[in-house]
Amino acid sequence: MNQIVELKDVTVSYRENVALKNISLNIEKGSFVAVIGPNGAGKTTLLTAINGIGNILSGSVKVFGLDINSRIRREIGYVPQSLSIDPRSPISVRDVVMIGRSSKIGLFRYPNRKDIRIIESAIELVGIKELSHRPVGHLSCGEQQKVALARALAQQPDIMLLDEPTSNLDLRSQKEIIDLIDKIYQEKELTIIFVTHILSHIPASCREVIFMKRGCIIWSGGVDKALNEKLLSDLYDCPIKEIKKEYV
Ligand SMILES: Nc1ncnc2c1ncn2[C@@H]1O[C@H](COP(=O)(O)OP(=O)(O)OP(=O)(O)O)[C@@H](O)[C@H]1O
Ligand SMILES: [Mg+2]
Repeated sequence: MNQIVELKDVTVSYRENVALKNISLNIEKGSFVAVIGPNGAGKTTLLTAINGIGNILSGSVKVFGLDINSRIRREIGYVPQSLSIDPRSPISVRDVVMIGRSSKIGLFRYPNRKDIRIIESAIELVGIKELSHRPVGHLSCGEQQKVALARALAQQPDIMLLDEPTSNLDLRSQKEIIDLIDKIYQEKELTIIFVTHILSHIPASCREVIFMKRGCIIWSGGVDKALNEKLLSDLYDCPIKEIKKEYV
């Protein structure tokens, strides 16, 4: 087995709030995993733990078989639930995308032609070319979400952690971004962990789903088995009758 992410008995807490309880999880290189579960289940905390920025109380997180360090973090592209940019910040969209690339360029180095091409291509792929000189703090939530995705793409990471990447997008952009994520996964040798609340947004290439509830992984398995009324009703503690499979 070629495990790229390994969590062993990981507990994460924010003071008295235990957000992850003894989580163990192995993710194979090249897999595409969706994570679903109610608000507060620990999905974002799981991604931050993998990204090495969580407050880990006990247990171990290994990526590429190693403890997280700055070299490994360069290979992890993280698209957060929201960008949290100060609206007064003058930093432009292009600069933010360039920051994604800077982990590959190195500190105090200028981007070369290839880096510029990668930055431009990430901006174009996500469809934000016309925004590229605007201050990112002036953008709408959905526009900022696209910038975060372009930043992660410019990094050309081995692992992408996507935290509800379509939550603020309009209907057309949702479909475009899901298709883009799918395409990138198929073209590059990526491992993707994708958090969503919208089951129809699970991209077609995704093969495995993890259910999280109250800080625990309560179920994992194939997409077809996951889209089951009984399992989903138990996960959300409410009757779930209609399961849309638009993109699945
Ligand atoms: N900075 C924080 N300080 C204190 N508690 C926190 C903090 N961040 C998260 N928590 C708590 O940790 C738990 C898990 O939060 P997390 O953000 O991982 O949930 P989530 O599954 O991503 O939820 P959502 O679907 O709403 O995004 C929640 O109970 C939350 O209140
Ligand atoms: Mg979250």
